[in-house]
Amino acid sequence: MHRMRRVPVGPCHSSPQPRASSLWFRRVIAAALASVASAGLASAQAPVSLAPSGWDADIKLVEAVDRNPDPKIFEFDMTARLADVAVAPGKTVQAWTYNGGIPGPLIRIHVGDRLIVHFTNDLPQPTTVHWHGVRVPIEMDGVPGVSQPEMQRGDTFTYDFVVRDAGLYWYHPHVMSAAQVGAGLYGALLVEDPADEVGITDELTLVLSDIGFDRKGVLESPTSGGPAGMVFGREGAYILANGKIMPTLRARSGAPQRWHIVNTAKSRFFLLDLDGQPFYVIGSDGGLQEKPVTTDSLLVTPGERADVIVTPTGPPGGTLPLRAMLYNRGYGSVEYRGVEDVLTIAFSDQPALPKPKMPALHREMAVPSIEGATKVNVVLTLPPAGPNGTSEFHVNGVPSWKAKPFLAGLGEQQIWIVKNESKFAHPFHLHGFFFLPLDEKLEPIHPMAWKDTLNVPMDGTVRFLVHFDERPGTWMFHCHILDHAEGGLMGTVQVGDRAAEHTHPKKP
Ligand code: C2O
Ligand code: CU
Repeated sequence: MHRMRRVPVGPCHSSPQPRASSLWFRRVIAAALASVASAGLASAQAPVSLAPSGWDADIKLVEAVDRNPDPKIFEFDMTARLADVAVAPGKTVQAWTYNGGIPGPLIRIHVGDRLIVHFTNDLPQPTTVHWHGVRVPIEMDGVPGVSQPEMQRGDTFTYDFVVRDAGLYWYHPHVMSAAQVGAGLYGALLVEDPADEVGITDELTLVLSDIGFDRKGVLESPTSGGPAGMVFGREGAYILANGKIMPTLRARSGAPQRWHIVNTAKSRFFLLDLDGQPFYVIGSDGGLQEKPVTTDSLLVTPGERADVIVTPTGPPGGTLPLRAMLYNRGYGSVEYRGVEDVLTIAFSDQPALPKPKMPALHREMAVPSIEGATKVNVVLTLPPAGPNGTSEFHVNGVPSWKAKPFLAGLGEQQIWIVKNESKFAHPFHLHGFFFLPLDEKLEPIHPMAWKDTLNVPMDGTVRFLVHFDERPGTWMFHCHILDHAEGGLMGTVQVGDRAAEHTHPKKP
């Protein structure tokens, strides 16, 4: 019998706020004031933008408007419907949208607030809304047949939950999701912590995706390429940054910007590059991480998020591209393909600011006890194609439609060892709970970061510790290459009181 530990590992338990270096903050303010003629009017307390005016006008997301007067409740109406969406000047797509746009509205709320979304399905297909990464009660998880019935055209459903954790999350359908996400159905949910001391005024939520359509603006078929398309994971030919093909972001050289990035593409990986200029990574899926790291290229796989500070530098009036480099996620991802542009950073004519020092942030994270955690082995395979050319992905030897649920008790800690024996990478996503990546010795990987989606490279293994808290239910896990999920790479974990007594380490 395994022992159960009740060491809390959820992000909500790490109370101390990250601290920014006040020296750094003063320097930024000083630099800003020096550049403003009317410096005497500015207060050192007020947030000061260092970006040129209208810097994000070409790319800024449409925001949901709160119609509830209670400051602790954010309430709005959202409809999924077909709409013609301009993705570039002269390029319109007949897309599937939330409230008429790609992406859907950005929802910005504070941690601890209650979100109420009155949702209507006006699509010619059933749908639901799943709140990716959010620790919702199971009734709000948006999985048809598991947590709510499929919504037919004309149906309404009210999603209503408290958002417990700061960070960037997102929403998308959980019915025919490869097709529906690929057609434009996704949006960002930014949960802000007013006490966060990151200290960057110029913030951008950046939703990265792609879309496929023809010259008439008709969406590419979600079954294009047949079984081989499923095995690869279909990508749209056009990269979208906040719903636009190659938009422009304006910047003042040397002025830092904070980007909250989410990859909502149905299959495409984004390995981002700013011509070698560093990304200062401060957070991941579940908010800020233990401490920042600097990287020259930033991998964001489908479903994942990254919270980064960038300080684009370049000659006044010049430009700097944000590019998607090649990343080998399986055959077809690097063969005959090149680097692609995501957006252009255009520098203003203002003189460059001296490069700021990055804030020395630190998040207290309770180091969870690993001792006594139940080990769960998960093996991902792609057996040879069947006689008629069809393929399916397997988890522990079976596709999702033949799988039995995994079991976990309330409060139980488990270590999942996810081994990829297929020649495609899989961004592995668990609904409803954060987990902590571990190394081969089953020690936390530093800096620690709360994840809900983690890339399992080709022939690679990842390990993570997950604490199933007090929320019972049947929770999904699946590859976030949505074609793979529908091709069998999916399963459930049943979290409940009794289940614990019957849980044994799984032998695949
Ligand atoms: Cu974004 Cu079932 O997930
Ligand atoms: Cu996959």
